[in-house]
Amino acid sequence: TPLQDCNTFGIVASADTLVRIHSAADVQEFVASPHYRGRKVFVLGGGSNIVLTGDVTDAVVLKMEIAGIAAIAQTDSHWIVEAGAGVLWHDLVAWTVEHGYPGLENLALVPGTVGAAPVQNIGAYGVELQDRFYELDAVDLASGQSFTLDAAQCAFGYRDSVFKHVPASPVGTPVAKVQGMGLAGRAVITKVRFALPKHWKPELGYMDLQRKQSDEAVEHPSAQQIFDWVVAIRRAKLPDPAVVGNAGSFFKNPTVTDDQCRDILAREPKIVHYAMPNGSIKLAAGWMIDACGWKGKTVGNAGVYEKQALVLVNRGTGENSVTGGEVMTLAGAIQTSVYERFGIRLEPEPVVL
Ligand code: EPU
Repeated sequence: TPLQDCNTFGIVASADTLVRIHSAADVQEFVASPHYRGRKVFVLGGGSNIVLTGDVTDAVVLKMEIAGIAAIAQTDSHWIVEAGAGVLWHDLVAWTVEHGYPGLENLALVPGTVGAAPVQNIGAYGVELQDRFYELDAVDLASGQSFTLDAAQCAFGYRDSVFKHVPASPVGTPVAKVQGMGLAGRAVITKVRFALPKHWKPELGYMDLQRKQSDEAVEHPSAQQIFDWVVAIRRAKLPDPAVVGNAGSFFKNPTVTDDQCRDILAREPKIVHYAMPNGSIKLAAGWMIDACGWKGKTVGNAGVYEKQALVLVNRGTGENSVTGGEVMTLAGAIQTSVYERFGIRLEPEPVVL
């Protein structure tokens, strides 16, 4: 099965075995089927956070297509909205704003699916998935059993969760025994539930949003207004994958200690940095890459986006698209020059397959 249309980079590759999943029961049926015996599984959502460096031959690709969005319950303080793992993230955000359940509007236009969102705890413009998360359902790939995890069990961090960590226990160990130690490759998220506040307050801490608010002189913006602003900000500086292939931010923003930051600032007084609630300092990787002169550069068919140096893009199209190898070569060159100038090792953000 060709995968070019299943990854937003538009990399040409194919999968030996691809199974389309429309329900938790489909996952259970797959676990019990002879296709699966002893093979690895790769769960594919919107394909917006992966780099394919070759054909997928060793793993079965599960393409998540579980649909549905509904408000299913409420507590004193929150509406509970549930969505299938295959729903496009942006469609969920638009639905909640339209139906009067605000809280996700800062996360408008984040690419990918609902099921992928908890894996890397997506975040933008001052809101992270974990701020609005209630619980999720998943199927254990060892036993075929469904289970539910709350926020604490998901162990969310910056672009991180239990689903990104490889468990130390052998393959085949039931999830109940490996929880808290890592579930990468062990479970398939089927549904996610969100807790959206009944007493909603706008989140406008992020500088780009403050600028919009003062430009448009709106004192009390609605969720719809913020949604529109976020869409406009993202359209202005991030490439639309339908036009230019990309996988969003290619590197994580690194964190350093106060002391390390002071050292760097002494040499690089202009470096963009933010204090984190836990006392560490986050550095803007995009700024560092830009400072090394990479913005707008091209190597083979891989490029650094003109308006945001943290985003790598596909300069080719169709048959002539960028290869995963070209993307990783460019990424390696960027890592080297950032390391030589700043002494910081940038970590890729997408999953390299
Ligand atoms: N900057 C430059 N040059 C560049 C790029 C950035 O000088 O080429 C500077 C900007 O001027 C700004 C700072 O670096 O002062 C940070 O840039 P920006 O506000 O664009 O955000 P970011 O840190 O690069 C992060 C997320 C994005 C998210 C935005 C907005 C990560 C890895 N990326 O980017 O998430 O949309 O903040 O909240 O945390 C993604 O993860 O795929 C993603 C797009």
